[in-house]
Amino acid sequence: MSLKLFIVGQLLSAQVFANALNLNHDQNFPNWIKSETQISENKLLQAMSQPDTAEGAVIASPSREKPNYYFHWVRDAALSMDAIVDLYKRTSSPDDKKNLEKKILNYIKFSQSNQRAGALTGLGEPKFYVDGRPYDLPWGRPQNDGPALRALTLIKYAKSKIDDGQTDYVKQNLYDSQLPSHSIIKADLEYVASQWQNPSFDLWEEVLGDHFFTLAAQKSALEQGAQLAQTLGDSGASDWYLKQSQKIAAKLNQFFNSPEKYILATVNRTGGLGSKASNLDTAVLLGLLRSNNFHTDYNWNQSKVIGTVKALTKAFTDLYPINKSQPAPAVAIGRYPEDVYDGDAFQGGNPWVLTTLAVAETYYELAAWTLKHTGEKTDAAKYIELGDAFFARVQLHANTDGSLSEQISRFNGYMTSAVDLTWNYAAILTTSWARERAQQ
Ligand code: NOJ
Ligand code: NOJ
Repeated sequence: MSLKLFIVGQLLSAQVFANALNLNHDQNFPNWIKSETQISENKLLQAMSQPDTAEGAVIASPSREKPNYYFHWVRDAALSMDAIVDLYKRTSSPDDKKNLEKKILNYIKFSQSNQRAGALTGLGEPKFYVDGRPYDLPWGRPQNDGPALRALTLIKYAKSKIDDGQTDYVKQNLYDSQLPSHSIIKADLEYVASQWQNPSFDLWEEVLGDHFFTLAAQKSALEQGAQLAQTLGDSGASDWYLKQSQKIAAKLNQFFNSPEKYILATVNRTGGLGSKASNLDTAVLLGLLRSNNFHTDYNWNQSKVIGTVKALTKAFTDLYPINKSQPAPAVAIGRYPEDVYDGDAFQGGNPWVLTTLAVAETYYELAAWTLKHTGEKTDAAKYIELGDAFFARVQLHANTDGSLSEQISRFNGYMTSAVDLTWNYAAILTTSWARERAQQ
């Protein structure tokens, strides 16, 4: 390429990036959050209403090639439904409540058929065809975060039914105290309680080992499962779940007690990709956020949480061209520094929407935690500002119609990989709710 062409190319790509940066400049940040949360609610519901899927299936994305995400992933679906259960709990409109509950019930029916489908690794099967058949081609399986996340989502729903005086309904439909269990929540809890000691594939479906994300979800599911079992009179199971959750808590110390300033992603790696030399991963933040451990166990090791956010920010600053070359409110964050998955092939990692949001959400949680435990308003305000910077970074790259793909091109800042990633919309909601809590 001639020098002139090269320079024109550079100017063009700078222009393209500047345009991308300006995509959402006409909307101020708080207004964008308002419209984006509304869009996200609609998109979440759309992901469960595809005409050619079984009722209750939640597609990970409408993208059917490069990449094909037209599947029901147990993890993505549980996290998406968790936001829907929150919407169900928050709404005061009877019509909306009914509509949301219908979605939850369909999801339960579909998931129960998944549990009974005889998948290759049973309840550890990571994904299902949209008609409910278990995926049967080679894949990183089992992924044992799935049943734990699904249990967490449905325990939240069960608790809200109990609060509404519908304990019998919960016993009949969600938790039956039987062994073997024919109810969705107990089947998942039994799986988690008996399997957590075994290695499984991580949430990115790449590494076989013991993962912070997976164990954090498992610990929380068993802790909350123990409470639910107690309420429903299944006290033997309650003791058993609690005991296992305490063992997991002890195991989680291994991820904190390292010389690094951050929490480790994986210990005892036994297979899968071996390229994550840093062991630094946003999965750790997602583990804290999605398992409610922020509120209960965050004081485990506050400085390591902050150390993790800082190490991630530093690593991604130098890694991606769009972070180096352009002014922006904050660094766009990928999954982990060694990542090479670009959605289509393995030509280099990109920043992701949901991991950049995870950093924002972590800062909001830090703000809420600080206010609650130290009352330091200045520190809390600083964390909110940082959270806003990462949230606004996502605004910068979002499409003007509010849609969000899995990744942000590291070269030009445009959305890339799977369009309309359902999990992103759940992440927008949880991030904006964390922001609300932080500002109270
Ligand atoms: C698809 C997975 O979903 C993604 O997370 C992973 O990076 C690639 N496969 C490579 O294993
Ligand atoms: C790839 C991600 O790594 C994985 O976490 C996710 O479950 C699938 N894509 C589907 O969204």
